[in-house]
Amino acid sequence: MPRSRLALLFSAILAFTAATLVGLPGRSLAAGPLPCDIYASAGTPCVAAHSTTRALFAAYNGNLYQVRRASDNTTRNIGLLAAGDYANAAAQDSFCANTTCVITIIYDQTSRHNDLTPAPPGGVGGQDNPAPADALPVTAGGHNVYGVSISRVMGYRDNSTSGIATGSQPEGMYMVASATHFNNGCCFDYGNAETNNRDNGNGHMDAVYFGTLCWFSPCNGGGPWVMADLENGLFQSNTGGSQNTSNTGSRNGFVTALLKNNGTNFFALKDGNAQSGSLNTRYSGALPTSPAGYSPMHKEGAIILGIGGDNSNSAIGNFFEGVMTAGLPSDTADNQVQANIVAVGYGGPSPVAGGTLNPGSTISLRATTSGSTTRYIRHQNNNAVTSVISSSSSALDKSDASWIVRRGLANNSCVSFESRNYPGDFLRHSNFQLFRQPMDGSALFRSDATFCPQAGHSGSGTSFASLNFPTRFIRHFNNTVYIASNGGSNAFDTTTNWAADTTWAVSAPWTP
Ligand code: AHR
Repeated sequence: MPRSRLALLFSAILAFTAATLVGLPGRSLAAGPLPCDIYASAGTPCVAAHSTTRALFAAYNGNLYQVRRASDNTTRNIGLLAAGDYANAAAQDSFCANTTCVITIIYDQTSRHNDLTPAPPGGVGGQDNPAPADALPVTAGGHNVYGVSISRVMGYRDNSTSGIATGSQPEGMYMVASATHFNNGCCFDYGNAETNNRDNGNGHMDAVYFGTLCWFSPCNGGGPWVMADLENGLFQSNTGGSQNTSNTGSRNGFVTALLKNNGTNFFALKDGNAQSGSLNTRYSGALPTSPAGYSPMHKEGAIILGIGGDNSNSAIGNFFEGVMTAGLPSDTADNQVQANIVAVGYGGPSPVAGGTLNPGSTISLRATTSGSTTRYIRHQNNNAVTSVISSSSSALDKSDASWIVRRGLANNSCVSFESRNYPGDFLRHSNFQLFRQPMDGSALFRSDATFCPQAGHSGSGTSFASLNFPTRFIRHFNNTVYIASNGGSNAFDTTTNWAADTTWAVSAPWTP
C-alpha cells in the first residue's frame, strides 16, 4: 500500500479510536475505573456492590436487579447496556408496560452473591414490601434509568452474606441517596446489621444513614444528615450529636453518603453532592466509648437497605448505588470514588410541566360543581376534603392542595397522587372515602391509590375511575372526598350532581 494511503488509514483508525474514547454522539460511555475497581486498587475491595442504575466494576456485565410484574407474577432480570455501563431500563419498560413492577432482587455485583431481597419481619415491623420499580426515574450517563424509591414498610436485607465485616473488622461503605425523599422515621440505612433482624445491642450495626432522625443532640440546621447507625443510635460523632456546626445537612438532589469504621477505635462520616464537587468530612475520630459497646464493635455482617437493624421500617429514602468494602478505605480512594460518581452525571427526569396528568407533574384538582368551583382537593388531618384555596391562602393550605402525579401504583397506564408536602403519602380510598396515607407497598394500597382518568362526566374536565372499583369515581360530597357510584346505598352515591361532583379541573399546582 502506498505510504500516503497507509497514513490516511492510520489517521482514520486514530480518529475512530479517539471518538470512541470520548463517546460518540448519543452514546455516553461509563467512565472507568468504576468505584469497585478504585477500591480494589487501593487494597480495600468491594464485598458488596448494589445498584439499579449502573455497573460498579468496569468489567461487570451481569444483572443489576430483578423485577416482578403484577399482571402474571413473572420476573425479569434487568442487566446493562454493555459491560461496565448503565442499566437497560428499556427492558424494564417493555416488561412492565400496562401493569406494574416491583423490585424483587438487587443483585450483588461482586462474586459473593450478597443479593438483597425484601426484608423479613424483625424485632420491629413485619415483612417488608418490595419497592415499586418505576417510581424513581432519573438519568445516569445520559441514559434513562430507575433508582429505588423506598417508602415506609419497604426495605431489603441479606442475612447470609460472604466477606462482610464481622466483630471488630474494618470496613467502608457509601450510598448515593437523595434529599428529595427522606423523613425522620427509623432508619434509612445501607450497610452492616444484625443477622437475626433484631436489636442485639450497641455496636452490632455499622450502616450509613441518611435522613432527619436526630437521635442525639445537637443536630445543626434542618438536615437531612449523613449519620452512622451503630445500633441504638444514629451518631454524628463519638459523643452522638454533631461536633461540626457547619454540617447543617445535605440538601442535594443526589447525595453521596459515606461511612467507614475500623472496628476498634475510629470512624469517619462524609457527604458530598453526587453531581459535583468533592466530599466533606463531617466527622473523623474516635468511636463512641460511652455508653459501652461500640469500641470495639460487634458487627454481625448482614446487609440492610432502607430499614434499621431490627427491621424498623418507618423510614423513606432514595437509593441509586452503594458498595461495602473489606478493610478501611483510604481518603484518596474515597475521593476517586466521589469523582467517578460525579462523572456519572446523575440527573433528574426531564422536567414535566405542572398542571398536567403526566407523571412527575404537580397539580391541584379543582371541583367543577356550580358553587364549589373555588374548592380543591386537599388533605387535612389525613382526610381528603375540599377547601376553598386562593392566592391569599396560607402556604400550608396551598401545599396540602398540591399533588404530584405518579404512574399508577397498580397500573402504570393510570395515575396515583402523591402528597406534595408529605412525600411517600398518597391519596387512597378506604371504605370508599379518600385519605392521605403512607404508601406501604401492599397490593391493596396500590390498587386503592390508583385512578384511571377519562373525559369528565359533565362534558369537560376529567373524571377519575377507581382502579379496583371501576364504576366508582373520585367525588366530593359535603366537602369530603369519596369514590362514588352513580346511585347507590351511600349518601355520597346520590345521583344528584353526580356528573359535576365527579368532574375535576386538572389545574396548575398551588405549590409547584
Ligand atoms: O440505631 C438506630 C436503630 O435502633 C437501629 O437501626 C435499630 O435496630 C434500633 O431500633
